[in-house]
Amino acid sequence: MITFENVRKVYPDGFEALKGIHMTVAKGELVTLIGPSGCGKTTTMKMVNRLIEPTEGKILINGEDIAHKNPVELRREIGYVIQQIGLLPHMTISKNVSLIPKLKGWAKEKYQKRVDELLDLVGLDPTVYRDRYPAELSGGQQQRVGVARALAAEPPIILMDEPFSALDPITREQLQDELIRLQQEIQKTIVFVTHDIREALKISTKIAIMKDGEIVQTGEPNQIVKEPKNEFVKSFIGDEHSGSVCDGSRMSSYK
Ligand SMILES: Nc1ncnc2c1ncn2[C@@H]1O[C@H](COP(=O)(O)OP(=O)(O)OP(=O)(O)O)[C@@H](O)[C@H]1O
Ligand SMILES: [Mg+2]
Repeated sequence: MITFENVRKVYPDGFEALKGIHMTVAKGELVTLIGPSGCGKTTTMKMVNRLIEPTEGKILINGEDIAHKNPVELRREIGYVIQQIGLLPHMTISKNVSLIPKLKGWAKEKYQKRVDELLDLVGLDPTVYRDRYPAELSGGQQQRVGVARALAAEPPIILMDEPFSALDPITREQLQDELIRLQQEIQKTIVFVTHDIREALKISTKIAIMKDGEIVQTGEPNQIVKEPKNEFVKSFIGDEHSGSVCDGSRMSSYK
């Protein structure tokens, strides 16, 4: 569904952020990009909805080179949770979440119902939060609204850049479970960035471990744990996961 073909990115200051990325994300997969700060995760992700253009190489969605697509139309088909949340401050929570459904011409009744459903889904009581402004929510609550907004128009592809980083462990676990359910039941294709290897092992069907603008290893969670390709991957996974229990390809529990 999404294919990266030799994607390089050199920023205008000459810094080579991506050194030739090859990656395929099949329909219905949940792929996590994980690696140290600055390794190129956000850069890789932002290329899928053309917020950043590659210097070399190309990205295909369903076989079509996205360089030939209208970026605005492309973005309507891709849900996106950005690293800094990015809610529009002058709009209520309800308006923020219904932005894309509205642009797509949904009837008012339909998108209002959807807003309430999604706020419920991310653990925010719609009657309490729907008419508030982003500044009237905590950081973690805003992050949950960011997730709701990305799911609102039921896009086939969802990009999530550290979407759960500001959440308490319980809410985080709940949203991770929800995401697994979404990916399994509705066959969404999800690209997810995280710093947290536990999170990656739990939610991913495939993990891409990145370092210095390159993908060091890709594989199912259990493959990565069982056969880390080198010392870098080993140290990234950490010893505590070597005895984890496998549930299919995902890791269901930890030592
Ligand atoms: N506009 C820019 N101009 C020059 N360099 C940039 C620009 N944007 C990002 N970079 C550099 O490219 C590299 C990759 O950045 P990117 O944001 O993709 O990293 P990341 O893996 O998402 O990091 P983090 O985990 O901290 O979010 C970094 O070294 C960053 O400093
Ligand atoms: Mg980033």
